[in-house]
Amino acid sequence: MYEHPYPSPELEAQHPFQSLEFVRYSPAVMLERAQQYHADMDRRRSVRMFSDEPVPRELIDLAIMTASTAPSGAHKQPWTFAVTESVEVKRKIREAAEEQEKVNYDGGRMNAEWQAALAPLGTDYHKEFLEIAPWLVVLFEQRFRLTDSGEKEHNYYVKESVGIAAGMFISALHQMGLVCLTHTPTPMAFLSRIMGRPDYERPFVLFPVGFPVTGTKVPELRRRSLQEISVTITEPLD
Ligand SMILES: Cc1cc2nc3c(=O)[nH]c(=O)nc-3n(C[C@H](O)[C@H](O)[C@H](O)COP(=O)(O)O)c2cc1C
Repeated sequence: MYEHPYPSPELEAQHPFQSLEFVRYSPAVMLERAQQYHADMDRRRSVRMFSDEPVPRELIDLAIMTASTAPSGAHKQPWTFAVTESVEVKRKIREAAEEQEKVNYDGGRMNAEWQAALAPLGTDYHKEFLEIAPWLVVLFEQRFRLTDSGEKEHNYYVKESVGIAAGMFISALHQMGLVCLTHTPTPMAFLSRIMGRPDYERPFVLFPVGFPVTGTKVPELRRRSLQEISVTITEPLD
């Protein structure tokens, strides 16, 4: 028995609570779902060659709604997903991204170590896919929010919250059979200008979304093993 139940009767008298909708699976089903989800997510790859095949807006909206189920600091949901299929907007974004990336790749803004890390990916400043992919979705983080009466409302753990939402967006797209690239043509302030976002929002990631072009290749990458990424702690070390 809990000595301090959550919510306390006093809390529940002040703020509404509801019963958790929880689905309990048998151990065998749990294992099967876990294995299937891992196998499916293990096929997710970042794509840099998009087809111009159209994608229904409804699918993009569903991915955004899934992303927006992410947990967030104090439930502030500090994100905006700016979506475009406009040929003109995509062209402007490509031009501005290539301008920045040219300085990054060819103008020395990326140091030698960074360039070496990117070498196996073979990326360069050309970003044609930004015009070819049917949708561009820019995820903006809201450093704070303005209430309807124009007052500043604080957000908490913005980067953590938006990072989790980004991951859920990527996962939702993959689950429905679409691909995307997590793209950060830094500095990304041009995205705020082109998309007319307020200055309390900052671009977090630019996602081209669509289908891969037939015959798409991706770098052969090794994902680190469980032993490499996980430790088991059996006693306090402090
Ligand atoms: C925060 C972040 C920024 C990234 N920025 C870029 C980018 O600007 N351009 C690019 O081609 N890939 C970018 N990537 C994609 C990574 O290169 C890619 O995730 C990594 O090589 C692993 O490949 P995979 O996604 O296919 O597993 C980025 C990924 C993350 C998480």
